[in-house]
Amino acid sequence: MKPCRISFCGAGKWVRAFHIPMLEQRADRFAIRGFYDVFQENAVASAAGKYHVFSSMEELLQDDETDVVLVATKPVDTHYEATMRLLEAGRNVILEKPMTYSSEQCDALIAKAKEKGVLFTVNHNLRCSVCLKATKEVIRQGHVGEAVNVEITSPRSWYDQIDFSNYAVHMIDQALAINRSPLKEVMACTAHRNDPMSSCGYGAALLVFEKLPSITVSLLPLPMKQAIADEHPYRGYFRFRVTGTKDSFAIADLSHIPAAEQLLCRSSYYFDNAEPDFTRPEFVQSLDKAWYDFFYESWAGGAPLLVSPEEARNNIRCAELITESSRLNRAVDATNMLPIRKECLI
Ligand SMILES: NC(=O)c1ccc[n+]([C@@H]2O[C@H](COP(=O)([O-])OP(=O)(O)OC[C@H]3O[C@@H](n4cnc5c(N)ncnc54)[C@H](O)[C@@H]3O)[C@@H](O)[C@H]2O)c1
Repeated sequence: MKPCRISFCGAGKWVRAFHIPMLEQRADRFAIRGFYDVFQENAVASAAGKYHVFSSMEELLQDDETDVVLVATKPVDTHYEATMRLLEAGRNVILEKPMTYSSEQCDALIAKAKEKGVLFTVNHNLRCSVCLKATKEVIRQGHVGEAVNVEITSPRSWYDQIDFSNYAVHMIDQALAINRSPLKEVMACTAHRNDPMSSCGYGAALLVFEKLPSITVSLLPLPMKQAIADEHPYRGYFRFRVTGTKDSFAIADLSHIPAAEQLLCRSSYYFDNAEPDFTRPEFVQSLDKAWYDFFYESWAGGAPLLVSPEEARNNIRCAELITESSRLNRAVDATNMLPIRKECLI
């Protein structure tokens, strides 16, 4: 297989914890080329003596041994400028979520990527969560009758001062992956109603679509002490409940890293009702396929992107609507959402 050579703009904690191990496990398909960071010591630490360290953004922009640049800068306000420079230079870009803090900036990035004819996507890695797939499967198999509501809950917004859009955007992405009909209305309440999306916040939002089910996303505060004492560090990842005309079904994600055997391991997942047939091939076949596997197929073989830039942009628009609804304390129409493809790849 032809390896896809990836370089990084921003080389901090998440690059070391997630991207490097994910890519090193896929050495047949990916080759890490190098790292650029405004603080060079971070690039040096990520390169760990094995990969190239770029001494400037210009060097990264011009590097002809890089096929794709992954932008993982923080704070999130830096996403726009770094990504725009790379797209301007004709680079394929993977951007970390959240795409930006404004749908207008997202639109400008999408337009630039189109103008330059390059590949552009956003790393919504939790689109590959086993529980999201299980939830979709429960709905598809009709186990609850007609699904009328899906609740996606995370108890972990508070402990780390993680801001609303940064964290909830994962749940929004999952909500919009479950219900592909047009979003119609949003009613939300967040704890800090007048704060911008970039501030810490928890709360809940009801998303109403043209077709059922509606989806509730909620971020619940969990005290710092409890979060640290938790023996399952990922317990905070999302809990799903599907409520239908016949039954309701709950799925808890105690580890969001997908692997086939995890689904059948009751210490990793629990299902609180009679279990649907999760051995169906269409389900099992996508179980251990992580975000990078989908990306490689798009890059090397022209397969559709798992997360189109329009979908990632709609997540940000939805976060804006949540903020607006909360500030106004009333439901708002879901204006200015972009049309997306009907089918979600997972
Ligand atoms: N997909 C996920 O589940 C997930 C999880 C964690 C973090 N993230 C995202 O990953 C990104 C990085 O998060 P992190 O926790 O590694 O942050 P971090 O602070 O550890 O690292 C960010 C790095 O970016 C560098 N940087 C800032 N501005 C830059 C610029 N203009 N050019 C080059 N480098 C720049 C910083 O020096 C720092 O080394 C964020 O966008 C965050 O939202 C995603």
